[in-house]
Amino acid sequence: MASFPIRTFGDPVLKLRCAEITDIDGALARLADDMLETMYKAPGVGLAANQVGIQRRIFVYDIGDGPHTVINPTIVETSGEWDYDEGCLSVPGLYFPILRPQKVTLQGVDLDGHEFIREGEDLLGRVFLHETDHLDGFLLLDRLAPDVRKEAMRVLREDPPHAGISRRIPAAEVESPADTGDGVPPGDRE
Ligand code: NI
Repeated sequence: MASFPIRTFGDPVLKLRCAEITDIDGALARLADDMLETMYKAPGVGLAANQVGIQRRIFVYDIGDGPHTVINPTIVETSGEWDYDEGCLSVPGLYFPILRPQKVTLQGVDLDGHEFIREGEDLLGRVFLHETDHLDGFLLLDRLAPDVRKEAMRVLREDPPHAGISRRIPAAEVESPADTGDGVPPGDRE
């Protein structure tokens, strides 16, 4: 297995819709393994192929019950609402409150070529929506309420996060104590 560098906000590959996968073979299984290694190393709970620069419709996830791979995902049904502080490996160090459906039905294909339907609530449903969004060319920034998006864009432009320090946006008045104004954190925090 090998890991990839993760593409971040501003990289055009994150805005492209990924192509449907027609050949499920050993090469695709190796790609899934490498994506999982990249995700665990980050660490994160989900990773879509275009986040590592590959325009194919596949994502991996693990919310604590082991690794999963989803090929050609489609969201077939959603219900309810759930507000959650969501982050993304392609927008590192920032978390945003985002309202999305609470219950999500996902259709996809596994690495054996079998079609499946899987239901996810709360975090699992959130992962399904977030990763399918990636493969459609959307980032979590595209799902923010207008005022939160405005603040997020300002922060990304003027005050991007330092390594190892996470911030919730909007929370401009609750700056991390490490942000002393010189832009240099006092030391690694993670
Ligand atoms: Ni993401």
